[in-house]
Amino acid sequence: RIVPVILCGGGGKRLWPISRGALPKQFLKFDNEPSLFQQTVLRVSDAGQFSSPVIVANEDFRFIVSEQLEEIRVSPRSILLEPANRNTGPALAAAGMHIADETPNAKMLVLPSDHVMVQTDAFATAIGTALAGGGDKLVAFGIKPTAPDTGYGYIQAGAPLPTADGLLAISSFVEKPDLATAQKFLARPEYSWNSGIYLFPVQRLIEELERFEPELVAKTGAALRGAQNDGDFLHLAKIFGEAPTISIDHAVMERTQRAAVVPTNMSWADVGSWEALWNVSPKDENGNAVSGDAILLDCRNNYVRSTGPMVALLNLSDLVVVVTDDAVLVAPRADSQRVKDVVDKLSELN
Ligand code: GDD
Ligand code: MG
Repeated sequence: RIVPVILCGGGGKRLWPISRGALPKQFLKFDNEPSLFQQTVLRVSDAGQFSSPVIVANEDFRFIVSEQLEEIRVSPRSILLEPANRNTGPALAAAGMHIADETPNAKMLVLPSDHVMVQTDAFATAIGTALAGGGDKLVAFGIKPTAPDTGYGYIQAGAPLPTADGLLAISSFVEKPDLATAQKFLARPEYSWNSGIYLFPVQRLIEELERFEPELVAKTGAALRGAQNDGDFLHLAKIFGEAPTISIDHAVMERTQRAAVVPTNMSWADVGSWEALWNVSPKDENGNAVSGDAILLDCRNNYVRSTGPMVALLNLSDLVVVVTDDAVLVAPRADSQRVKDVVDKLSELN
């Protein structure tokens, strides 16, 4: 059975003022639906195919992680807690080594917890393909690009592999290119967006990390050996904070020769910003996505959300208006990526 590894460390600055340091976007509940973290866990809860999940999160999120798991009645295999944020490279190194301790031949399915996924059957098919033909390759899942988005990694597919239909070698992997490069990639059919979801044979992942980032493996390995066990929680030792800060995409995927890709057509989004959330939200006939108490007159293509006060908009277009009890954000939708600058400014002031 596949071991799901769920990453939930990111801060989600661009979804301020709803997403806060203490409650990042993956744990938020919009409109009483399960949080993105809960949806991610539920997506891989079929016991026939998956074992219990390994969760990797910062120490600060231990209570919310276990509370949200209880709500959906999932018991984890373990919850690895990081004493510091070092990005996804060290987080996945720790998860890989932890799983290899008990089940060295396992495959782990890496799942970011900040995604919205609509067609889960396309996702299941893609996993089937990766499992059938992936062998000991590091398998990425591609998404058909619709825009020259510079917030994603780009995967260039090479020759089809004989082991499974729909599985191709990776010719190149470029993490977060500049706009000109992203535009070039968009025009070429062999490129897909990297979904950030991976199927890794744990031993192969560790080998590749040792090859490219030996220091990272040494520090996270030490953090794992020195970890404190406490029920479901495994508190990684402080030395984890000495591992280099690097994403798995830069650490391994851009460099490895042992990767393959399953390009997919699933409807998917990284809900990293209000713009992204507007894109995937249901809208009225004027293109407004509204939640909470609000009146809109002669308004078009706005994203409006209030968790309390009544909001009224008159003759306005293409805005983000987010109102909470203690903060209000008003910005052009097109500037959604810059909301993180507001958060940075705020933390300077505090
Ligand atoms: N445990 C843990 N610790 N999780 C982390 C950490 C960390 O230090 N840093 C990030 N994460 C989690 C985030 O919460 C998220 O669920 C996932 O790892 C990916 O991190 P992001 O910071 O959201 O990455 P990204 O969106 O900028 O880029 C990645 O995902 C894109 C698709 O959404 C890359 O893989 C891109 O190539 C990819 O296109
Ligand atoms: Mg992301």
